[in-house]
Amino acid sequence: DRILVLHGPNLNLLGSREPEIYGRDTLASIDAALRARTEAAGLAFERLQSNAEHVLVERIQAAAGDGTRFILFNPAAFTHTSVALRDALAAVAIPFIEVHLSNPHAREPFRQQSYFSDLAVGIVAGFGATSYSLALDAALARLAPAS
Ligand code: DQA
Repeated sequence: DRILVLHGPNLNLLGSREPEIYGRDTLASIDAALRARTEAAGLAFERLQSNAEHVLVERIQAAAGDGTRFILFNPAAFTHTSVALRDALAAVAIPFIEVHLSNPHAREPFRQQSYFSDLAVGIVAGFGATSYSLALDAALARLAPAS
């Protein structure tokens, strides 16, 4: 069983990209913390960042048959544009959490539409790197409910 973490465009620049909005944590440090917690919970971990919509579409499609049980997804700018990524998630029907470092609702009007929110199990936004950690808490709780 695997948790798959997907990061959309420009998130490879975390750490130096508009740090007043996105914070100073690098993507590598965020992913390392998620990997450690996921593996400690006995699950496999995989992460992918891409600036290319089709790469993310293809990884989501492949997740249907590869043991992926949950997806944490920060679609970044594709949040507001990508019917293709939305359709891929609908097609595979794997539960996912929409994650954002910033709070898109407190920013420009064009960030207030998401093609993902109504399909997501839930949304975590506005807490910087902690948004990912909170999303992982929720995913792990779903996958290993307390007995
Ligand atoms: C983002 C918010 C998006 O509006 C933006 O395009 C991003 C990052 C976030 O994590 O806050 O690239 O998804």
